[in-house]
Amino acid sequence: MEWLQRWMVVVHCLVVLLILTENWVIATGNVTYDGRSLIIDGQRRILFSGSIHYPRSTPQMWSPLIAKAKEGGVNVIQTYVFWNLHEPKPGQYDFSGRYDLVKFIKEIQAQGLYACLRIGPFIESEWNYGGFPFWLHDVPGIIFRSDNEPFKFYMQNFTTKIVNLMKSEGLYASQGGPIILSQIENEYQNVEAAFGEKGRSYVRWAAKMAVELQTGVPWVMCKQTDAPDPVINTCNGMRCGETFGGPNSPNKPSLWTEDWTSFYQVYGEEPYLRSAEDLAFHAALFIARNGSYINYYMYHGGTNFGRTSSAYVITGYYDQGPLDEYGLLRQPKWGHLKQLHAAIKNCSKTLLEGVPSNFSLGQLQQAYTFTEAGGGCVAFLINNDQRKNATVQFQNQSFVLLPKSISILPDCQNVIFNTAKVKTKPNKRIIKAKLKFDSEDIWEEFKEATPNFDDTSLKSNRLLEQMNTTKDESDYLWYTLRFQHNISCTEPVLAVKSLAHVAHAFINSKFVGNAHGNHSVKGFSMENPITLDEGMNNISLLSVMVGLPDSGAFLESRYAGFNSVEIHCTEKENLYNFTKYAWGYQVGLLGEKLQIYKEENLATVEWSKFKLGDSSNQTFIWYKSVFDEPGGDDPVALNLSSMGKGETWINGQSIGRYWVSFHTPKGKPSQTLYHVPRSFLKKSENLLVLVEEIGGNPLQITLDTIRVTSLQHEDDFSFHQLPVPQQST
Ligand SMILES: *[C@@H]1O[C@H](CO)[C@@H](O)[C@H](O)[C@H]1NC(C)=O
Ligand SMILES: *[C@@H]1O[C@H](CO)[C@@H](O)[C@H](O)[C@H]1NC(C)=O
Ligand SMILES: *[C@@H]1O[C@H](CO)[C@@H](O)[C@H](O)[C@H]1NC(C)=O
Ligand SMILES: *[C@@H]1O[C@H](CO)[C@@H](O)[C@H](O)[C@H]1NC(C)=O
Ligand SMILES: *[C@@H]1O[C@H](CO)[C@@H](O)[C@H](O)[C@H]1NC(C)=O
Ligand SMILES: *[C@@H]1O[C@H](CO)[C@@H](O)[C@H](O)[C@H]1NC(C)=O
Ligand SMILES: *[C@@H]1O[C@H](CO)[C@@H](O)[C@H](O)[C@H]1NC(C)=O
Ligand SMILES: *[C@@H]1O[C@H](CO)[C@@H](O)[C@H](O)[C@H]1NC(C)=O
Ligand SMILES: *[C@@H]1O[C@H](CO)[C@@H](O)[C@H](O)[C@H]1NC(C)=O
Ligand SMILES: *[C@@H]1O[C@H](CO)[C@@H](O)[C@H](O)[C@H]1NC(C)=O
Ligand SMILES: *[C@@H]1O[C@H](CO)[C@@H](O)[C@H](O)[C@H]1NC(C)=O
Ligand SMILES: *[C@@H]1O[C@H](CO)[C@@H](O)[C@H](O)[C@H]1NC(C)=O
Repeated sequence: MEWLQRWMVVVHCLVVLLILTENWVIATGNVTYDGRSLIIDGQRRILFSGSIHYPRSTPQMWSPLIAKAKEGGVNVIQTYVFWNLHEPKPGQYDFSGRYDLVKFIKEIQAQGLYACLRIGPFIESEWNYGGFPFWLHDVPGIIFRSDNEPFKFYMQNFTTKIVNLMKSEGLYASQGGPIILSQIENEYQNVEAAFGEKGRSYVRWAAKMAVELQTGVPWVMCKQTDAPDPVINTCNGMRCGETFGGPNSPNKPSLWTEDWTSFYQVYGEEPYLRSAEDLAFHAALFIARNGSYINYYMYHGGTNFGRTSSAYVITGYYDQGPLDEYGLLRQPKWGHLKQLHAAIKNCSKTLLEGVPSNFSLGQLQQAYTFTEAGGGCVAFLINNDQRKNATVQFQNQSFVLLPKSISILPDCQNVIFNTAKVKTKPNKRIIKAKLKFDSEDIWEEFKEATPNFDDTSLKSNRLLEQMNTTKDESDYLWYTLRFQHNISCTEPVLAVKSLAHVAHAFINSKFVGNAHGNHSVKGFSMENPITLDEGMNNISLLSVMVGLPDSGAFLESRYAGFNSVEIHCTEKENLYNFTKYAWGYQVGLLGEKLQIYKEENLATVEWSKFKLGDSSNQTFIWYKSVFDEPGGDDPVALNLSSMGKGETWINGQSIGRYWVSFHTPKGKPSQTLYHVPRSFLKKSENLLVLVEEIGGNPLQITLDTIRVTSLQHEDDFSFHQLPVPQQST
């Protein structure tokens, strides 16, 4: 047998050598650019890129996701870098598990693709606090994203940390690695004016700081028309072929860093549906108008696990992308874009070397052509008429152009692709309930207590700002007080105003009501009739945030939490005004503090048997159960449509917040299925814990598997049979 082992070692070495050689080949030398495109290895390139954010999936998913992107004709994977995950405390770093940025970039490299690293480190991205670690808020004198010494110190410190990490692993293209592009800041122009001269000087500083890090690859600033040389200004949006004012120098290429494949979704709203035709039309238009890099944001959105999503943003992220939340193909989007990419690649040499020109073919029709001295000719024939076919003459031939479409002619004669002619069949999700939790015997519950003023240790004689008090260690902050009822007050009404997201009110430990705001308003108010006891009364109010804000100027000085608490009486002159009063505070829930969602902490509280009659629809109950993993490898999700609002843990890991009771204008929850990554599961005895805030029925929870209908089409292939990744082309 020894010869066999030796032989296997030899084969193994050969394979490793091949892989190494291939990786080494994809990009050597510094990346530069000219007015046409990025220049890699001395070659101009038209690049299609897809955003996949490593912490929004799991390391087990990275390889298949990247493989599907590659199979879809994507050459670059773009990701943000998530500062708050990597530096939870100043100077303490975490690059483990889902945060393993180096592993993610190496996976991209192993599959022969390039990477675009958007360091930010402000990223927005519907991510908690726009990616800033919350400790940054407490740095004395700090003003985020401005020409402010403390901010610049930490921004430079983290940016340098990431660049050095990439360099130490040899991951820049200039070192033979896959990273061809980096980003500093993010859509800064949206807020720049608020900072006056300090905004303008900050942009100059940020660009200089980044360039001085000597990565050997270009930097971009997206949505920053005045990006200082040599940083490239890029476009974000859905229609950059129409909206982009172009690079701010004739020596910079036209790049589109975010082509939104859908849009982020917030609780209370429906998903944004963008058609494959519309995506293809605007991508083709951008290429026709000299564009040379398009990044789909998101190609795969994934999941906002834990409490990582920003204010009101749902747990599923860009489920409508070419790869859905679970990494399954969303058809026809994925297949139609794949065909577009193939059509563009068919003629990229002429696109990159030819002379561009454009002319009218009719009132709403244009031609964009690229012609080479050697005879190469590429044409894009555009019909902007939304409703009617157009018959046009182009180079002595007659063409019927479909409504709102672009035809691609790689030889100026034959149409090989039309953006409105979708040849890929749509697919459908098939959801199967594999496990029911419909027996009272499999559940146990723990009722969270309502703290009163006497139970709290943190006191203040005013209403405290919520984020500064919780330090974002919890969504929840209890505001409590007690008072002597000593005025005549008929039909008392508790009236509160909040600048957080949800409020629950309790008088003398009895629930009196709750209310919430939404993504499009700043705050909300709540009024509830109450009954007061003679003498001493206790008020306990729970303020809830569903994620921190992620955008806007002066993020460090936002206010959240209650800003007014009063009791109104029918007697107009009588009023209790508690806005300035002796308040007691408790940060978070007891179950959170004890981490009772972890196996090892279960025994720190007393769980009781679950009974539907007593428990259903009650607020603030923790539920727990155990289950076995469903067979097969289809993705798994918890169907929480019978629940209200809360958070779910599987084997101690949070799969995110849920909020089913907040309905869209069509009367439906925004999200009922919550992804449980296979890698979070064991074969058996998986611990499921939920904290329910509004009230729901756990007996109707199911564990479902998700698949999509198979396709009877050329794009029908199994990912298990993917060919060994080839060098990118
Ligand atoms: C890449 O650029 C760096 C500095 O910008 C330079 O030192 C290095 O020689 C360049 N490498 C190549 C291969 O041109
Ligand atoms: C970042 O700051 C820490 C102190 O918080 C310091 O130890 C470290 O050297 C700094 N790193 C850089 C690259 O400036
Ligand atoms: C494309 O580039 C050419 C040459 O630089 C320029 O003349 C033309 O206006 C550009 N087209 C568009 C749509 O920007
Ligand atoms: C490129 O387009 C030509 C038609 O101009 C076609 O014959 C050829 O098959 C295409 N190649 C690819 C790879 O799509
Ligand atoms: C050709 O492109 C230029 C640059 O974008 C534009 O200003 C002009 O209107 C276009 N001409 C036609 C006929 O579409
Ligand atoms: C446009 O032309 C195609 C054939 O090229 C035809 O199938 C279609 O019905 C026409 N559509 C309209 C709106 O006239
Ligand atoms: C179109 O036809 C005219 C007249 O027959 C001819 O002069 C011209 O070269 C033709 N153009 C092309 C692109 O074939
Ligand atoms: C934040 O809380 C700290 C105490 O933890 C307090 O000293 C500080 O003034 C508060 N800042 C703001 C802006 O409320
Ligand atoms: C009545 O109660 C309020 C609120 O508890 C308190 O501020 C006030 O001193 C009380 N007045 C009297 C006369 O007890
Ligand atoms: C958001 O709240 C405001 C004020 O209560 C309301 O007018 C609006 O309809 C709400 N929007 C959504 C999408 O729920
Ligand atoms: C309640 O007190 C706050 C703070 O002292 C004050 O701003 C507010 O106007 C008062 N409300 C009423 C109704 O008097
Ligand atoms: C729970 O509340 C819902 C909606 O308010 C109601 O339809 C349902 O009957 C309640 N369930 C129980 C067991 O009380």
